[in-house]
Amino acid sequence: MSAISHNPASPAIILGIESSCDETAVALVRADRTILAQRIASQEAEHAPYGGVVPEIAARAHAERLAPMLEGVMGDAGLALGDVDAIAATAGPGLIGGVMVGLVSAKALAMASGKPLIAVNHLEGHALSPRLADADLAFPYLLLLVSGGHCQILRVEGVGSYRRLATTIDDALGEAFDKTAKILGLGYPGGPAVERLALEGDPKAVPLPRPLKGSAEPHFSFAGLKSAALRAVESGAHQPADIAASFQQAAIDCLIDRLEKALRDHGALPALVVAGGVAANKAVRGALEALASRHAMRFCAPPMALCTDNAAMIAWAGLERMAAQGAEFAGDPLDLRARPRWPLDDSAEAVRGAGVKA
Ligand code: KG4
Ligand code: ZN
Repeated sequence: MSAISHNPASPAIILGIESSCDETAVALVRADRTILAQRIASQEAEHAPYGGVVPEIAARAHAERLAPMLEGVMGDAGLALGDVDAIAATAGPGLIGGVMVGLVSAKALAMASGKPLIAVNHLEGHALSPRLADADLAFPYLLLLVSGGHCQILRVEGVGSYRRLATTIDDALGEAFDKTAKILGLGYPGGPAVERLALEGDPKAVPLPRPLKGSAEPHFSFAGLKSAALRAVESGAHQPADIAASFQQAAIDCLIDRLEKALRDHGALPALVVAGGVAANKAVRGALEALASRHAMRFCAPPMALCTDNAAMIAWAGLERMAAQGAEFAGDPLDLRARPRWPLDDSAEAVRGAGVKA
């Protein structure tokens, strides 16, 4: 097993907190990959009237829910703060008000308990989440990280070592799904609704563009696809289900084309891994699985509940860091600041429009 090293007699336990977007989440995870307890409160109802996440409403909702959820999770696991080895919280990237609510709570708990604080990059949480579900997934792997704020291809070399091979020059794919859902009148969040409607449609019915397909640059672009879907709706010439299915197929074609390019340019890796909210989409998963099998790569997708935002992945990223640093592990300083933008690969050149949400 590509194990996290731990003392089998008393594996470490980390409390994780996630509050970077519209899910408030708390989890207790043990180094032997057991999720001891977790709670997730979605803010769908609060944001639905606006068709998207309103940062001020999100921050307030996190602030109201977090303390009772922390109490609930500790109670569910029958543990006290003294039983926990460290407290991990998302410190960015994301909506800054919400991130601060989670991070400040984690700092207060760390201070009160004397346990180390671990400030986790939300993207790192997504990037390492497949290893929580799959003990056999070893480094390095090729990762497609597709969420509401990001669409990136990364080479994951190890804990804390990420090389970005491609990113979006405009919209993230989840964002394009959400906007397409909005214009189709499917409500928020849009990804699952588009996926459901697409099941009834013909993916070839509506001619939609595949932006940057075949391009010599490695990146993604979804703004043109989203606008074309909008024009298709406004034309009144197509069935909504056909638009949903054609949009989803165009998006998948773009993902596969860009991944094929990354494999050509950088060589194959033992495993292809997908993470982030859009990884919950079964058609996307199916196409990625076929791609992996064409390249004799292992395909790994975490269970649906670990794809969308959750705190187990944040606790797990903390456990991975603790194990990787071994005796040198000391946690992060309590005056650490929340970061609205925080790239996983600091050396990657900035690309116009890459999102701040994760
Ligand atoms: O990672 P995530 O939970 O949140 C952040 O963006 O940080 O991803 C949420 C995104 C939303 O845009 C949502 O519409 C999309 O993931 N999503 C999906 C599906 N489930 C969630 N997109 C397509 N198909 C789905 N089944
Ligand atoms: Zn996320």
